[in-house]
Amino acid sequence: MIADSFGRVHDYLRISLTDNCNFRCFYCMPEEEYDFTPASRLMQTDEIIKLAKVFVSQGVKKIRLTGGEPLVRKDAAAIISALGKLPVELVITTNGTRVAEMLPVLKEAGIKTINISLDTLQAEKFMLITRRDVFHQVRSNIELLLHEKITVKINMVVMKGLNDGEIKDFIDWTKHNPIQIRFIEFMPFSGNKWTSNKMFSLQEILTAVEKDFTVLPVEGAPHDTAKHFMIPGHEGSFAIISTMTAPFCSTCNRMRLTADGKLKNCLFSNGETDLLTALRNDEDVLPLIMASIWEKKKALGGQLISHFESLDAAAINNRSMITIGG
Ligand code: 5AD
Ligand code: SF4
Repeated sequence: MIADSFGRVHDYLRISLTDNCNFRCFYCMPEEEYDFTPASRLMQTDEIIKLAKVFVSQGVKKIRLTGGEPLVRKDAAAIISALGKLPVELVITTNGTRVAEMLPVLKEAGIKTINISLDTLQAEKFMLITRRDVFHQVRSNIELLLHEKITVKINMVVMKGLNDGEIKDFIDWTKHNPIQIRFIEFMPFSGNKWTSNKMFSLQEILTAVEKDFTVLPVEGAPHDTAKHFMIPGHEGSFAIISTMTAPFCSTCNRMRLTADGKLKNCLFSNGETDLLTALRNDEDVLPLIMASIWEKKKALGGQLISHFESLDAAAINNRSMITIGG
């Protein structure tokens, strides 16, 4: 069992396969000239599996693959297949571009839920956000997943003035489709141009939905980061991830392994523990994992403690989102 000093048991590991991505979302990437980590410094397939097995031996029950974009990694298929053999629930967060070609591998590995990052339902705005003209490809891949009866969750980062006007369109989408829309409060990371006035809060999101729909709260699972809601008569549902205005740290069970093999005990931690170097030196990584999680701060990595309106994003010491993996 991997526990911290506040009694939280950690049984959910998020593994970033690469910091590379075929999109350039401005809120995630530090800048266009960002240098991706060279392959030699990334965990190799066998190293990922070895580390994953250590976590699984200590009670990890769920593994999420993230990025960058996990499916752009050349050996993604081999990694996914190998992880699919471990006794865990395997899930993935992807931008959706490579889903069609990877579908056989994803199904074979037993992946039943796929989270797709999609911040707009408008092709032009999609290009503005991601700087790539592939909106229709992503949309058709989502249709493909629904057709395959794979559970689809859509991650939509709500940014004031950019896509907050589309909340109703996303909810309309749930009327005849069994999808879950996850509205995410915009969070500050190194170099992502976060300002508090771009943030659209849990309360603002709820108010926007309630303007057009009857909203009923739904009881969530114990470690949910999202608050769940349903709308009578809709096949799908929605949720809100309120990291900024109503964090859910007290029930956190997550650990993050970056693509270069560093363990982060919190999305907002400023420290990290180098498991990959230890593994390559034939050292026992388990004590490092235990110590890292034991040192986990009570909330938000010990950063972001001031109210979001007075937060100085530049003073936060962290990686950029693309190097963490969400
Ligand atoms: N704030 C909130 N969510 C973010 N994501 C990336 N950057 C941010 C941010 N600054 C989301 C992506 C993806 C998930 C892994 O994290 O949209 O869906
Ligand atoms: Fe790529 Fe996702 Fe970051 Fe966009 S948010 S640049 S899709 S990793």
